[in-house]
Amino acid sequence: MKNIAVLVSGGGTNLQSIIDAVESGYIDGKINVVISNREDAYGLYRAKKHNIKAVFENDENKIIEEIKNHNTDLVILAGFLKILSSKFTRTFENKIINIHPSLIPAFCGKGYYGLKVHEGAIDYGVKVSGATVHFVDENADTGPIIAQETVPVLPTDTAEELQKRVLVIEHKLLKEVVKKYCEDKIRVEKRRVFID
Ligand code: GRF
Repeated sequence: MKNIAVLVSGGGTNLQSIIDAVESGYIDGKINVVISNREDAYGLYRAKKHNIKAVFENDENKIIEEIKNHNTDLVILAGFLKILSSKFTRTFENKIINIHPSLIPAFCGKGYYGLKVHEGAIDYGVKVSGATVHFVDENADTGPIIAQETVPVLPTDTAEELQKRVLVIEHKLLKEVVKKYCEDKIRVEKRRVFID
């Protein structure tokens, strides 16, 4: 069984989908700790409600220590809005995954977070958007892509409406990837990721 740490900055609906998938037995893993750089993150409250250790911490070195203390096999960034240093990403190389609410390499990288991602997609006029789960390297949203899924962008969409539609598939995609990771079914060769 894999040891999982989840990092959140906000509401934590992606965290909740992982908690539910662990509790139902879909994912063969254990969430040992949820860490947030924001004291008031609702994600911390979700963790406590499920008897998971919830830590508010902003200092990256302390976050690294906390993750190491639990023999963590997988670090999930689930709406974690702080950019990680290369020290962090090297410490947990190929063990950190992130969920991003667009089809990378579109609408990602610096400045593309929250509603800005969806505003970008709508303003550009794309007909499909979606979600991406990827490994995290030292740059924002550039690591090897593990899985992607699309949703339509409708002519009448507001950023909020598109965000909601994408969020539904985020929850599904993230738990599928975490399941495969916990079963050692994900392999990386350079930028290409293979799922058995
Ligand atoms: C999600 O859209 C995720 O893709 C992005 O931040 C948002 C977090 O939502 N990285 P939540 O906190 O999981 O509800």
